[in-house]
Amino acid sequence: MSVFYITTPIYYVNARPHLGHAYTTVVADVLNRFRKICGEETYFLTGTDEHGDKVVQAAKDEGMSPLAYADQISGLFKAMWPELDIEYDYFIRTTDPAHIKVVKEVLQQIYDSGDIYFSEYEGAYCFGCERFYSERELVDGRCPDHKTIPEVIRESNYFFRMSKYQQWLIDYVNTNSDFIRPERYKNEVLAFLREPLEDLCISRPKSRLQWGITLPFDDNYVTYVWFDALLNYVSALGYPDGELFEKLWPGVSHLVAKDILKPHGIYWPIMLRAAGIPLYQHLNVHGYWNVDETKMSKSLGNVVDPLELKGVYGADAFRYFLMREMVFGLDSSFNEEAFIQRYNSDLANDLGNLFSRSLTMVHKYFKGVVPQAVPGTESGLDSALVANSEKALQDYHEAMEEYAFHKALMAIWEFINHINKYIDVTAPWELAKRKELHEELQTVLYNIIEGLRIIAGLIYPVMPRTARIMQEHLAMSSPESFQTLADLSVWGKTAPGTQLPKTLTLFPRIEQTKVQSSDREANMSKQASISEKAEIPLEAFQKMDLRVATVLDAEPVPRSKKLLKLKIDMGKNQTVVAGIAENYDPEDLIGKQVVVVANIKPTKLMGILSHGMVLTATNKGTCRLVTVDGPAEPGTRLT
Ligand code: MSP
Repeated sequence: MSVFYITTPIYYVNARPHLGHAYTTVVADVLNRFRKICGEETYFLTGTDEHGDKVVQAAKDEGMSPLAYADQISGLFKAMWPELDIEYDYFIRTTDPAHIKVVKEVLQQIYDSGDIYFSEYEGAYCFGCERFYSERELVDGRCPDHKTIPEVIRESNYFFRMSKYQQWLIDYVNTNSDFIRPERYKNEVLAFLREPLEDLCISRPKSRLQWGITLPFDDNYVTYVWFDALLNYVSALGYPDGELFEKLWPGVSHLVAKDILKPHGIYWPIMLRAAGIPLYQHLNVHGYWNVDETKMSKSLGNVVDPLELKGVYGADAFRYFLMREMVFGLDSSFNEEAFIQRYNSDLANDLGNLFSRSLTMVHKYFKGVVPQAVPGTESGLDSALVANSEKALQDYHEAMEEYAFHKALMAIWEFINHINKYIDVTAPWELAKRKELHEELQTVLYNIIEGLRIIAGLIYPVMPRTARIMQEHLAMSSPESFQTLADLSVWGKTAPGTQLPKTLTLFPRIEQTKVQSSDREANMSKQASISEKAEIPLEAFQKMDLRVATVLDAEPVPRSKKLLKLKIDMGKNQTVVAGIAENYDPEDLIGKQVVVVANIKPTKLMGILSHGMVLTATNKGTCRLVTVDGPAEPGTRLT
């Protein structure tokens, strides 16, 4: 049986976990679950990187000791992962004594072999990056990351002889084409290796930094944080003698973003080589998440908190969006409106509706008992459905192998749409009207349920919670409900005769108003000046049918804090749902004239069909109705 050992970077404990950390860790979890359904043995490592200047500085800012501070932030990471349904096997901290022991052993070994030497060095040192920069690396004499002018310092330090391994690494990367992937990052590493590789300064004098692992061969120094951190990937497995190390190391795949390509693509393979440890199998590098096309940063106040999103939309929707939206390897921009759009169209409409309409039919026509498909009643539609499921499975598998998660999800959604069409074409409600077609009805509903079983199995790596709920409602009880890809590739595994529980709504539709009151939205609407908004042609505006309407009646929508149901006269009487309950009492609205977008596609909000959208001026949670400057005939068009 092959093994799969997946790692995330160990995150610095100088900042709270955010969207970027969550993305990498969700990807690792998705891969881990995927390998499990492939029938492989897996191991998933994450953790925190706790030494170095950055942590000392952050702790000082909080008036805490480095260890107390590291405990606190490491705890936040550890607490976040289960919230996002991330099931890791081990959480490593670089302050763990077992890790420290391994770092010292490896240092000693490399020192003994002659690849670490002592030397005086004068150079430009960036305190933000905790490293020396060569002239060539600086941009206009400044650190490319921090834009600060590095300080020239002269120090005696220990150096790791990386230069000795330069040609070996070039050859290795060239001959092992999937060692670093996607290819653009392999090329980036090779481009870097075209310049002479300098030896790496791997010590920091204690006079400057004490928060680190003391060098085993010199008490006056601590270890450079990267030399310490990278070794977590082996120390977590009990290197050198641990059973886990022996079993899992051959199947190791690292996952990082492009920001830390150099330490993982250059330092780490050379460290492994120098220590006589076999190289990792793959380094998988993804791009960066921006927010609304801007770099995410504390100072801009646009850092996205995964728990906030989870609280509003649920962990599965969050995971789905991340996997569906980012092309692995490229940058992507997070935008909450795009999130809601995807949620409503892909999750609430396509998947959610399919699921509830299917189960409702089984309850209506078969009292909730899965019917038996009847041989001889199948048509071309049924064989096309089976063929489509096989294709979905194959496309999904290939895409997952290539880390093309967006494509894997597209393959599932093609199948979902195929089943939705199958229902429309076979029209079970028509079959149900005719007794002589009862057997056809059985076959059709059996096939739909079988399709749903396969979908639940395929979405499991990305949306484990939804998969589980679907499986429970398809009366598949754990542990038998665990579906391997092999199970999913066989059509007809659902047992007829099983009683299904009542259906439920997997993803309730989200009203856009739900998020409009959030601080982030308020900031955004304030920041985006008119000139920054995309221009639209006049015709686009003219397509909009804006009407004056008089409110005839208003009442709260049960179970909603924000929504009111309004009966309005806009030339004809209509019902609209408006998110204004926090700002207006229903009785104050009666007789008021408002402006309505009259030709917007009707949408259901909390089960009520709304035939228009009432215009408001909304900012920071206050909301004012747009109205006219004097009485106007209901239905008057705005021009
Ligand atoms: N401690 C080092 C890693 C040592 S690994 C031996 C470190 N820590 S970090 O906290 O800065 O984490 C960097 C990683 O967090 C990135 O490589 C990526 O996995 C994730 N991300 C942080 N911000 C990100 C984005 N904006 N977008 C995508 N992922 C990013 O570097």
